[in-house]
Amino acid sequence: MKAPSVAIVGATGMVGQEFIKVLEQRDFPMSSVRLYASDRSHGRKMKVRGEEIEVKETTPQSFGGIDIALFSAGADISKHFSPIAAKAGAVVVDNSAAFRMDPEVPLVVPEINPEDIKKHKGIIANPNCSTIQMVVALHPLHKVNPIKRITVATYQSVSGTGLAAVDELTGQSRAVLEGGTAVPKVYPYQIAFNVLPEIDVFLENGYTKEEWKMVEETRKIMHAPDIAISATCVRVPVMIGHSEAVQVEFSRPMSPDEARSILSKAPGVMLMDDPAGRIYPYPVMAAGRDEVYVGRIRKDASHPNGLVLWVVSDNIRKGAALNAVQIAERLLHR
Ligand SMILES: NC(=O)c1ccc[n+]([C@@H]2O[C@H](COP(=O)([O-])OP(=O)(O)OC[C@H]3O[C@@H](n4cnc5c(N)ncnc54)[C@H](OP(=O)(O)O)[C@@H]3O)[C@@H](O)[C@H]2O)c1
Repeated sequence: MKAPSVAIVGATGMVGQEFIKVLEQRDFPMSSVRLYASDRSHGRKMKVRGEEIEVKETTPQSFGGIDIALFSAGADISKHFSPIAAKAGAVVVDNSAAFRMDPEVPLVVPEINPEDIKKHKGIIANPNCSTIQMVVALHPLHKVNPIKRITVATYQSVSGTGLAAVDELTGQSRAVLEGGTAVPKVYPYQIAFNVLPEIDVFLENGYTKEEWKMVEETRKIMHAPDIAISATCVRVPVMIGHSEAVQVEFSRPMSPDEARSILSKAPGVMLMDDPAGRIYPYPVMAAGRDEVYVGRIRKDASHPNGLVLWVVSDNIRKGAALNAVQIAERLLHR
């Protein structure tokens, strides 16, 4: 593909703004860029590569002449406009959950299943943020010693909910510290100085949709339909960066040293694992960085074939904008 014309739908949002940053930082070769959002943002100006660009309302006419459309405006907007964009000739890379489990739509993490990109029919789905960082850390181990079971608990930052949630945590923290009360709007309860075991809606099986995404998306990306997975997803008062405590059961025993050796060479992974030196990853250090950080690797005391890992990554970058731009880069090279 020659230098493509790019559209960003949801350009004013948390992920949309990061799209602009990542495209600039990686010097993505765009011939032009158009920015779209809701009618609320129509006329607002945003800077891309030093140039002021006017944001326009997203309409069915927005996609003429566009080669790559990066979507981050929520599942309803994606459902409506992605097929229109694809029909107009664009390849859509969609950040929402709208198409992730559609068998006709590849769900891609470039370090893991880049070959799936070529099966696209106009839409490629970007996985959920908590799934991406977990599979980047686990797939290299799975290739050596197939994983049978994963149990994960997440500690997810408020930026995963979007700009309004970041404002909510800031406002509530200030209110509580000043002796006032925290008024919840985005979340059902106070998020400042609290943790909430509810991300996305509750399903009939008792899990939340976010937890079930980790189950289904992991199996689809890793082409491993038989892995048993259970997730508990928790929102914590952190601005940027999701953390995960992951327990893995392999087919055979794997020593922490073997896992460290594999992960030290794995694409997209940065090992930070020296408990004696208090070296381990945490969200404040991972924010703004591209890698998936892994530390605290140890034998699972409850299972002979088990390991326990601590995985941290910037949910807005590798969990959203960066992964989508990496997919777009693969499209360019095809
Ligand atoms: N944040 C994350 O870590 C993360 C990770 C993975 C995936 N995602 C997904 O990415 C999407 C966006 O998330 P976000 O965190 O960036 O949310 P956000 O900060 O709330 O931004 C939402 C964006 O969608 C736009 N939008 C809203 N209604 C629209 C409409 N009717 N037509 C066109 N654009 C509209 C907004 O434009 P206005 O400014 O004009 O309202 C804004 O640009 C969601 O599907 C989310 O699930 C987010």
